[in-house]
Amino acid sequence: MTTNWYNNAVFYELYIRAYKDSNGDGNGDFRGAIEKLDHIKSLGVDCIWVMPHYPSPLLDDGYDVSDYLGVHPDYGDLDDFRAFLDAAHARGLKVVTDIVMNHTSDQHPWFQAARQDKNSPYRDYYVWSDTGTEYADTRIIFLDTEPSNWTYDDVAGQYFWHRFYSCQPDLNYDNPQVHEEMFNAIRFWLDLGVDGFRVDAIPYLYEREGTNCENLPETHDFLKKMRRMVDDEYPGTLLIAEANQWPEDLLPYFGTPEEPEFQVCFHFPIMPRLYMVLKKGDKTPIVDILNRTPAIPPGAQWMTFLRNHDELTLEMVTPEERKWMRQQYAPNPRMRLNLGIRRRLAPLLDNDKRKWFLLNALFLSLPGAPIIYYGDEIGMGDNIWFPDRHGCRTPMQWDNDRHAGFSTAKETYLPVLCDETYGYQQVNAAAQEADPASYLNLTRFLIGTRQSLAALRSGQFVWVETGNDAVLAFRRHVDGTDGVLCVFNLSDQPQTFILRRPRVDVLSRPEVKMRGKVGLRPYACHWFRN
Ligand code: GLC
Repeated sequence: MTTNWYNNAVFYELYIRAYKDSNGDGNGDFRGAIEKLDHIKSLGVDCIWVMPHYPSPLLDDGYDVSDYLGVHPDYGDLDDFRAFLDAAHARGLKVVTDIVMNHTSDQHPWFQAARQDKNSPYRDYYVWSDTGTEYADTRIIFLDTEPSNWTYDDVAGQYFWHRFYSCQPDLNYDNPQVHEEMFNAIRFWLDLGVDGFRVDAIPYLYEREGTNCENLPETHDFLKKMRRMVDDEYPGTLLIAEANQWPEDLLPYFGTPEEPEFQVCFHFPIMPRLYMVLKKGDKTPIVDILNRTPAIPPGAQWMTFLRNHDELTLEMVTPEERKWMRQQYAPNPRMRLNLGIRRRLAPLLDNDKRKWFLLNALFLSLPGAPIIYYGDEIGMGDNIWFPDRHGCRTPMQWDNDRHAGFSTAKETYLPVLCDETYGYQQVNAAAQEADPASYLNLTRFLIGTRQSLAALRSGQFVWVETGNDAVLAFRRHVDGTDGVLCVFNLSDQPQTFILRRPRVDVLSRPEVKMRGKVGLRPYACHWFRN
């Protein structure tokens, strides 16, 4: 078994704009984030994923890049980026950044040159059509706003292809020059010292008639080429695949030992099922999806998450499951976006600490490298009335000072939450420091406990039969050792579980030894070691 640092790591998703404003302009920035690295470190995580930090018109919060070799002026400059990287590394934290491969902003100079001149070498950087009728079998991802994957550009006199917003024209990977451009961007950030990339939206790089234009062989060929370049020039670089796909379609993104692609792939289908099992009080959906998840190559890893900066996506469920999830978790239509749900973790769980603890304990003990979304460690709320996904991207709530200690500006990029339940007076990191039962300290406790148990970090996974659909149990163990037995009562009713031999529950404080028939309170969870 090959073990690399990322196999065992816990990640933290950082949105620079939301974190800490150091210069009072209302936007978070790298200098501000440096001030808060001790907070991140204190959670016990190993690596930070920085959401796009490039110059951008910010029409898709930076996933619309207008320069791959720079820093958004609101966030600082290259020196600030370097200082952030050094400060993170000095604390033993790794840093991966987002790299948006599939598309650029329409404000990128490549697109501007391309649209203005049919003969420009940049024209072929994008995908054009005279009719806008090609690739009709391709689904639309931003269903709420985009009527088509083609948009007519008056200046160009042709349609251009885009899988996301129409301000995000797709790059043309049939043009090898595009490969070189992206490789140069990758080299640029690796030269600065980043530890790897979360590679955005990779299933969509190529288009072929008669297909759904996802996961094409050509896309895999390119990704193998990218991996080879990175391995040759920057060995040890972590590449994480963002591919919102079924497990069997995800497997090829790991590549093969001879021809690898990514070391880590997000496991999208697990996520909605974590919410399903909790609401149903029935473990079946999670059992089914894990049983459907193929074994991955040695040294590879899944990345698991409860929430991120996007809507809680419901692409990887059946239409019936989607309907049910939206009825249960998004009763107000305003909570819905595209196929998903635009709410944060704590509100999804009714701000119920038992449910929050259970779901966190579950995802921190399943196989995979877990990632925590900024703000969820303090149980931040959302504002469903903000457009798009902004309601889950509000300023981090540090204390009960003005703008939650986020900024001294008059106005911030988005208002700080100030509602009765989730407003910064109620929910902030400073207030939670002192309370051992706060979300913040529970997060530290859970991550710290996981980090102390090799079986949870990297052990094999075996189901444990409980004879009860409401009780989910599995064992994680390293090479035949007894490991850790994880038991969850998914229901709001008391249940029981039989321990075949006495074991110590490390989630009880202080730890307690239990034996025989164990009573499980509603939403109870236990991590038992010998
Ligand atoms: C990814 C990002 C999302 C973005 C999209 C287009 O899915 O997570 O935020 O809008 O790619 O780049």
